[in-house]
Amino acid sequence: MENQRESHMQQRKKRRVVLFPLPLQGHINPMLQLANILYDKGLSITVIHTNFNSPNTCNYPHFDFCSIPDGLLEGGASTSDVIALIELLNVNCVVPFRDCLAKLLSNVEEESIACLITDTVYHFTQPVADSLKLPWIVLRTSSISSFLAFAATSLLHEKGYFPIQDSEAEAPVQEVPSLRMKDIPIIETHDAENFYQLLVRSMSQTKASSGLIWNSFQELEQDALTTLQRDFRMRIFPIGPFHKYFPASSSSLLSQDKSSISWLDKQAPKSVLYVSFGSIAAVNETEFLEIAWGLANSGVPFLWVVRPGLVRGFEWLEPLPKGFLEMLDGRAHVVKWAPQQEVLAHPATGGFWTHNGWNSTMESICEGVPMICQPCFGDQLVNARYVSHVWRVGLHLEKRLERGEIERAIRKVILEAEGQEMRDKIMQLKKKVDVSLRQGGSSYQSLESLISYIESF
Ligand code: UDX
Repeated sequence: MENQRESHMQQRKKRRVVLFPLPLQGHINPMLQLANILYDKGLSITVIHTNFNSPNTCNYPHFDFCSIPDGLLEGGASTSDVIALIELLNVNCVVPFRDCLAKLLSNVEEESIACLITDTVYHFTQPVADSLKLPWIVLRTSSISSFLAFAATSLLHEKGYFPIQDSEAEAPVQEVPSLRMKDIPIIETHDAENFYQLLVRSMSQTKASSGLIWNSFQELEQDALTTLQRDFRMRIFPIGPFHKYFPASSSSLLSQDKSSISWLDKQAPKSVLYVSFGSIAAVNETEFLEIAWGLANSGVPFLWVVRPGLVRGFEWLEPLPKGFLEMLDGRAHVVKWAPQQEVLAHPATGGFWTHNGWNSTMESICEGVPMICQPCFGDQLVNARYVSHVWRVGLHLEKRLERGEIERAIRKVILEAEGQEMRDKIMQLKKKVDVSLRQGGSSYQSLESLISYIESF
């Protein structure tokens, strides 16, 4: 009996999963977190990655990595037009990805490859996996609600709703309750038709996959999950939040400035506003100065991530007036990139002014930190609407960026009763996260069924 169990365990350890992350920070983080979760459950891991934004392999000695040429560096790839970048990846990677995968499959080794897991926007991977007869599961790195909004966007485009007229901006979107037309997750690109084409392809490929994994949890998005199960009749695994399975993530492409934590250590509990707009969003010089003066005039201490390239046309902090930071006399700390999960978990952090990328939104929920929402494009618009009007754990800065509005919003969230109400609500969500990950919880059970599913291939 004991021998049987041991041999079963050995067999379980011998399945391998191949993962292929999209080379953007907000997509690399959840894919590598998922890889760690699967590894922890006894699966071996191979990560195929592009040369562009390649992950720091030293942080993952327990994984195998295969790099494929993507032809991007020669073409001056940039994240300033994300849709164009994704389209290029979907064309350039086909042959090198197929060759790499075929080689991995032909290697006679002890472990058999159970399945391939790729990001949903890599629509070219479905025919490749099919031609090699390999089960293919997709990871959706955004929220379930925003995925449904993207599906609705595709329909609305077919019905000729775009571009949205100003008079229709406040109209409700019938296909996605809680959203107005202006919350529709449009992503601007040099040719709008490319965006809609990408949506159509990703949706149809997603439907053709063997399963769909979410960095979200049932209790947060129950209604959206019910709709998804109705409309997408496939295996669905909401196993998030991924980053809570392990201590702080190590898949950062930029080096995280640890002085953020030593500075926070000197601040009073819940007194600091943390400000970061993620890895892609950018602002112009005027907006940047309004942000700076809004922060300064609020009187609240702040930790501000000014990523190089955040201000279009500038290297870093050049647009700030001379002596601006000195004038604040230690009330501000500015870094190029922060250890965000540690910052949000720090007792001094009282609020998060965020662009509402899905990772940032989940990380804030997990630490019970209320938000000021400043969405820039795509799924961020949907996330901001849910944070402010469905979960009611944040304040949406909807008007144009103006220092007086900013100052009032910061004071509300950090100092006033409205902020405290949001903090109480988000603490309730945080508790639900903890329950969902515990034995018997929804994410725990979903992960168990995902592992059995992968092992059944
Ligand atoms: C992008 C999209 O913009 C987002 O809407 C989508 O949901 C995922 O892809 P990004 O803009 O980078 O991602 O935002 P986000 O999803 O929040 O991911 C940023 C990640 O970088 C987070 O995991 C965050 O912890 C990390 N981060 C951010 C740092 O480690 N340090 C920082 O200073 C800022």
